[in-house]
Amino acid sequence: MVRVDPASAQDLTAIRALLERSGLPTGDLESTQPEFVVIQREGQVVAAGALQRFGTAALLRSVVVAPGRRGGGLGRSLVSELERRARATQVKRLVLLTETAADFFARQGFGTIERGRVPQDMQASEEFRSLCPSAAICMAKDLADST
Ligand SMILES: CC(C)(COP(=O)(O)OP(=O)(O)OC[C@H]1O[C@@H](n2cnc3c(N)ncnc32)[C@H](O)[C@@H]1OP(=O)(O)O)[C@@H](O)C(=O)NCCC(=O)NCCS
Repeated sequence: MVRVDPASAQDLTAIRALLERSGLPTGDLESTQPEFVVIQREGQVVAAGALQRFGTAALLRSVVVAPGRRGGGLGRSLVSELERRARATQVKRLVLLTETAADFFARQGFGTIERGRVPQDMQASEEFRSLCPSAAICMAKDLADST
């Protein structure tokens, strides 16, 4: 089983570098403080992902696997651990925006939704308003409905 741990403060520099390398937004990380988890190999962060909470919904964001480590199940492990953490803290719905990985998330049970169906406070977040272009696909998964 792949070990997925909560990120420490020291991991944030490596997480930021991974996100930047893959073209994912980092400009709002300090102001929003998403809850990151990481996967490490030989002491290095090789994958990361986060939850940003909005009441009973959460934005699943900043999911990234180092380019040389893709295709080995790390991305799937990250998403299932973030989902487990969300369920454990009464989050009922996960929402995400993606430009390149819609099929990956569809395999994890996410379906495409219109942005207008997302809670207002989430729509007002920096990730929704400016960091991800409006071309990004919005997807969601209802945790209450799945096992
Ligand atoms: C998307 C990403 C996190 C996937 O990580 P990964 O470790 O390669 O994914 P996994 O190996 O766990 O793949 C799980 C399944 O999804 C498939 N898959 C992986 N990436 C995919 C993609 N971009 N599109 C479609 N399918 C994909 C895999 O083939 C695998 O299929 P299987 O169920 O038949 O085995 C990784 O490619 C990445 O970091 N991309 C750049 C950042 C990004 O776009 N993040 C999403 C926005 S938040």
